[in-house]
Amino acid sequence: MADKKIIAVTGATGAQGGGLVRAIMADRSGPFTARAITRDPISAKAQALAALGAEVVQADVDDPASLRRAFQGAHGAYCVTFFWAHMKPEQELAEARNLAQAAKQAKVAHVIWSTLEDTRQLVPLSDDRMPTLGGKYKVPHFDAKGEADGIFAEAGVPTTCLVTSFYWDNFIHFGMGPKQGPDGTLAITLPMGDARLAGIAAEDIGKCAYGVFQKGKDLIGKTVGIAGEHLTGAQMAAGFAQALGQPVRYNAITPETYRGFGFPGADDLGNMFQVDRDFEKQMCAARSLDVSRALNPELQTFAQWLGGNKGRIPLE
Ligand SMILES: NC(=O)c1ccc[n+]([C@@H]2O[C@H](COP(=O)([O-])OP(=O)(O)OC[C@H]3O[C@@H](n4cnc5c(N)ncnc54)[C@H](OP(=O)(O)O)[C@@H]3O)[C@@H](O)[C@H]2O)c1
Repeated sequence: MADKKIIAVTGATGAQGGGLVRAIMADRSGPFTARAITRDPISAKAQALAALGAEVVQADVDDPASLRRAFQGAHGAYCVTFFWAHMKPEQELAEARNLAQAAKQAKVAHVIWSTLEDTRQLVPLSDDRMPTLGGKYKVPHFDAKGEADGIFAEAGVPTTCLVTSFYWDNFIHFGMGPKQGPDGTLAITLPMGDARLAGIAAEDIGKCAYGVFQKGKDLIGKTVGIAGEHLTGAQMAAGFAQALGQPVRYNAITPETYRGFGFPGADDLGNMFQVDRDFEKQMCAARSLDVSRALNPELQTFAQWLGGNKGRIPLE
């Protein structure tokens, strides 16, 4: 183990970081070992990573000194922030600064910054097709990440910007799964019209990130977008119907209706889907399936992901 290069992984007990720790530790003969970063090293999730052989260390992205300690001696660092834990883009920017500075001070050789588009480059604040949120954002959980690409560049850390995609796991964990309509038929509800949405099995993000670390310096200074498939709402509904063995409709609604659902973040997500719909070509082109498969030969299709997860999807 001593001769292995350490990859320090934020969000290690979560979807993206967890997938990366599992990918690193599954490759026993590979050049890397994982250092799992968590706020609570004795949690069951952290202990499950320790059981795989990962080193587990305590740090908080809001505590710069803890991050500096956690990145010390690491060859690589996977940097992700947790918008939905606080829903504050300014805090996400501060966390990105903490991550970039910690990586710089620890002289990390390769950082992956888990990012998304700054949608204001597609939809300026003056564009009233969707509301401006928080005074200066269109899609706060995208825009802060995209803005933070510049923070890593300005800090001069050797970075690959990894543009992630909509997790299909949102159908399990984010309340987006099929729900029964008045006639009892299941339906998924999305404001995507006939446009394709770039989606991915969350576990595959970590596997793609592992591919980025393996490729190393070829990808430093580059932006790499990943997705498992680009699918319309109708295609996803058909996938559900096939997997569940019962009819599932696609309930296409407007972004305005989605924003009006009123749950925390509904306006942010309504704007996100509107960008995905109105800029379908750019959003899908930025997430190449071929590049994703080259990084991660085990990349799942939606049907494969459904096959492994259909029992976990809550049907209301
Ligand atoms: N859902 C989607 O479709 C989607 C798509 C693309 C991008 N994203 C982005 O993905 C990001 C979240 O990544 P994820 O889904 O992998 O996260 P996740 O599964 O929600 O969990 C991430 C882990 O982060 C840790 N964490 C939370 N706050 C922390 C802090 N202050 N310091 C250190 N660790 C902290 C927690 O671990 P401990 O409790 O062990 O500390 C948690 O287990 C969000 O910013 C979101 O915008 C989501």
